[in-house]
Amino acid sequence: SRHEVRFRIGVSQCSDDEWRHQMNNEMLREALFYDGVEVEIRTVKDDNARQAEDIRHFIEAGVDLLIVAPNEAEPITPVVEEAYDRGIPVIVVDRRILSEKYTAYVGADNYEIGKAIGRYVSNMLHGKGTVVEIAGLAGSTPAIDRHEGFMSVISACPDIRLLAKEDGAWLRSRAEERMDTLLARFPEIDVVYAQNDRMAAGAYAAAMRRKREKGMRFVGTDAIPGEGYGVEQVLSGELDATFIYPTGGDRVMQIAMDILNKRDFPRETILSTSVVDRDNAPIMKMQTAHISSLDEKIETLNGKISRYLARYATQQVVLYGSLLV
Ligand code: FRU
Repeated sequence: SRHEVRFRIGVSQCSDDEWRHQMNNEMLREALFYDGVEVEIRTVKDDNARQAEDIRHFIEAGVDLLIVAPNEAEPITPVVEEAYDRGIPVIVVDRRILSEKYTAYVGADNYEIGKAIGRYVSNMLHGKGTVVEIAGLAGSTPAIDRHEGFMSVISACPDIRLLAKEDGAWLRSRAEERMDTLLARFPEIDVVYAQNDRMAAGAYAAAMRRKREKGMRFVGTDAIPGEGYGVEQVLSGELDATFIYPTGGDRVMQIAMDILNKRDFPRETILSTSVVDRDNAPIMKMQTAHISSLDEKIETLNGKISRYLARYATQQVVLYGSLLV
């Protein structure tokens, strides 16, 4: 029957923030299109040990498939390998592990994102100036790749200097602290390259407190829509630019269903990026607002269908009951 659970999927998220919520919503909404799929999402707050526990919980519960966004690569690798060795298909998303023992990967190419930002910054500076970088959590692969991609461009510019790189752990408050010490150390900073928009907001707040925000320009990553997030940070002028880091939750769920149904699937799915700046941010805002209204309609429709089917099911029971009398 349609209520029978055919597949149980466990999702282990490393962090709890708007980018993750968006990805989770996409996965859950996509799962509505398949019958008999049960999705359980477990979330930690940037904690390797807790995330390993969540993954172990899913292994012991015997899920049919695991989706993992690993916090830091090294500590999460062994438990993902354990799941894989036990025959559970694993889709690694967004951040990578240090092993080939996974079934599929879905995410953007963070080295390419770093390069695109490097090119943007070198154009913005006309090849001359100073930069500070607020990087993501040191042991997470996007932090490493975004830095290396960035440096591949910047180190070829003799007159652009990276003054310092600080670990902002992907968090706004940490970035704000780190930026404050950078401001104290360096009287002149032209560009702040924050590896995500949240850290850019923290860095901007620190600069504002010292009344130095007008003298520098800020570049971020993620570009998620909605009140206070990346696209609006560009619209308000706080960010010069940000780069889309696609959440791709729907794509992840489609690949999960292909794996579970023994259909062909790509082992590596690389989602694309694009710059969001003053020129295209208004369009981006319009389009994402439209998409989110369509998403709401899908959910409303789904709720109506479920209620209809539930009523239909009880009517059958009532009918059956009355036949008995
Ligand atoms: C969300 C996030 C994003 C960042 C990504 C890197 O949890 O911190 O802001 O782009 O993770 O994996």
